[in-house]
Amino acid sequence: MIVKTILEHVKNQFETDTTGHDWFHIERVYKMACHLQAKEGGDLEIIQLAALLHDISDHKMNGGKLNEGGNVALLLLLENGYEEKKAKIVANIVDGVSFKGALVKDQQISIEGKIVQDADRLDAIGAMGIARAFAFGGSKNRPIYEPSVLPELHDDFKKYATAKSHTINHFYEKLLLLKDRLHTNTAQVIGLNRHQIMEAFLVQFYDEWNLKNLD
Ligand code: ADP
Ligand code: NI
Repeated sequence: MIVKTILEHVKNQFETDTTGHDWFHIERVYKMACHLQAKEGGDLEIIQLAALLHDISDHKMNGGKLNEGGNVALLLLLENGYEEKKAKIVANIVDGVSFKGALVKDQQISIEGKIVQDADRLDAIGAMGIARAFAFGGSKNRPIYEPSVLPELHDDFKKYATAKSHTINHFYEKLLLLKDRLHTNTAQVIGLNRHQIMEAFLVQFYDEWNLKNLD
């Protein structure tokens, strides 16, 4: 019941997004999290709620507020009559989901948190990840690529969140690192194939950029 209520709420809120954080992203993360739970275990209701709420107030769309998602999730769950103890567990997962920089350690320790973070990360890599990266970059007026601007590995969430580099750099600053930051075995297997698709894409991208292999 609570899962259905939250699902409807999130669906309404995200239906109009064009930054790659649309309802379909949330829906894929939700379905992937359910798939991972079936293989890896964990509390299904907590996982479903955290997956649905994981981007409820993301810094990339809320004007830069870095740690608001958990609070917004908590309020929404309490307003809908969900038990406070469980609502806090969900809120805690939501706060820890986001990537905070190449050199910033992940905080998810529960199996539920690990599964939701894995599901979100799988949707940031592979063909879907490529599409979302350029959609996001375009929505923030970022260039596709500027060869002279090199990637930076950020050691601080704020620095990572306020960086404004071209989208190809995002592959080196986050997307290509995710394969080794997946927690569960099931996600690692899925992630490997998606990682290889990004690597092949980049090889082809540079070939076309440099007009190589034309004959
Ligand atoms: P996270 O919270 O871990 O960043 P999200 O679900 O919020 O994960 O999704 C982040 C999405 O936004 C990813 O698909 C990612 O490619 C895209 N994104 C974030 N920052 C950038 C950026 N600087 N350039 C291009 N895409 C970005
Ligand atoms: Ni997400």
